[in-house]
Amino acid sequence: MRLKSLKLVNFRNYEEATIEFSDGINIFIGENGAGKTNILEGIYVLSLTKSSRFGDYMNLIKFDALNASLIGEVAYTDYTKWYQISIDKTGKKVYINKNQIKRISDYISNFCVTTFLPNDIEIIKGSPSIRRNVLNIQIGELYNNYLKNLNEYNSLLKMRNEYLKRLNINSMADYKYLDIINEKMLESSVKIYYFRFFYIEEINKIIPGIFKKLSGISGLKVEYINNLGIDFYDEDKIRKILLLKWKRNLNKELMQGMTIFGLHRDDLLFSLANHDAKIYASEGQQRMIVIAYKIAELLVFKKIKGEYPVLLLDDVFSEIDIKKRNNIIKYFNDEMQVVITTTDIEEIDENLVKNARIYKIKNGMIKGGHKNGRRKGTR
Ligand SMILES: Nc1ncnc2c1ncn2[C@@H]1O[C@H](COP(=O)(O)OP(=O)(O)OP(=O)(O)O)[C@@H](O)[C@H]1O
Ligand SMILES: [Mg+2]
Repeated sequence: MRLKSLKLVNFRNYEEATIEFSDGINIFIGENGAGKTNILEGIYVLSLTKSSRFGDYMNLIKFDALNASLIGEVAYTDYTKWYQISIDKTGKKVYINKNQIKRISDYISNFCVTTFLPNDIEIIKGSPSIRRNVLNIQIGELYNNYLKNLNEYNSLLKMRNEYLKRLNINSMADYKYLDIINEKMLESSVKIYYFRFFYIEEINKIIPGIFKKLSGISGLKVEYINNLGIDFYDEDKIRKILLLKWKRNLNKELMQGMTIFGLHRDDLLFSLANHDAKIYASEGQQRMIVIAYKIAELLVFKKIKGEYPVLLLDDVFSEIDIKKRNNIIKYFNDEMQVVITTTDIEEIDENLVKNARIYKIKNGMIKGGHKNGRRKGTR
């Protein structure tokens, strides 16, 4: 899939801007604070309806405006689609080909992106919720059923937690209701576990090889940490284990007023030669592990969906030495559309620059969009 154009209206520091993208490499150059990341953010929000950085969607609206919108044209192999997201204080609305889509889960997984962001190192260093979030986005982009199951699970989890609190106060309450919630949670759990086991297995098939190529080091592994204590998918086993866990730990869960066992506590463990990368890998190695993980994501996506998502790289090359930069670039190919930001074009490999469309940004104004130094339209 290829993003052909993006119109931003009152989006962060852009009052109104329309960008026409090249199908290959697009490079945005500008000083700090010019608005480079905001362009990537615009593409990200158009894809995933959420900011990659801020919880509150109101932050996406330009300071002095009441509403913001993003409109993107996306070309697939045989057809084109228009995506739109409009944001105001009442919430956000999403559209495909001008038709409003009521459920966000029906919108996501159509126009897909993969990001390489400076903050991605948090995937190693940060809390489990960051890794779950990344996993949910990755699988959600592949299968919108996954997001539906996850939404269902999350609302059941909320109900279950509220009910546990109520049971704790009033022990005469009806445990039958808890059994019903448990049963429903099992139903959505097994579906979600299926996707997670499958996806992590796909990643693990290729990530050691990718990391070896990037950094010369063998033995990278991503382990799926769940509180089931099993390392393969077995529906019957999962049902039995979860039910038993909930049964045995009922008192603990009642006291805490929350569900302790379940996939909302899942995690990923990155290890190098069986050592936890969070503790043992150097900063540079952690960065490369994340990049290997993102490349694995790209390749798994291509394997399953038959095409690549749009790749967004926010100023990531400056932290990486030339040799490793080139190792990363080897994974880019003509079938991928890439959007790169940088403060300094010197940071970018000249082979990439040679084939790129270059844009210059200053104070929320975009200039250029020409290829190889020539003006747009004269190609
Ligand atoms: N809601 C908003 N309304 C108007 N301007 C905003 C809003 N949010 C952020 N900005 C402005 O956008 C600019 C930041 O843009 P952005 O993060 O895209 O910069 P950048 O080019 O990526 O810079 P850097 O190189 O430092 O990463 C800042 O000047 C900031 O004041
Ligand atoms: Mg930036």
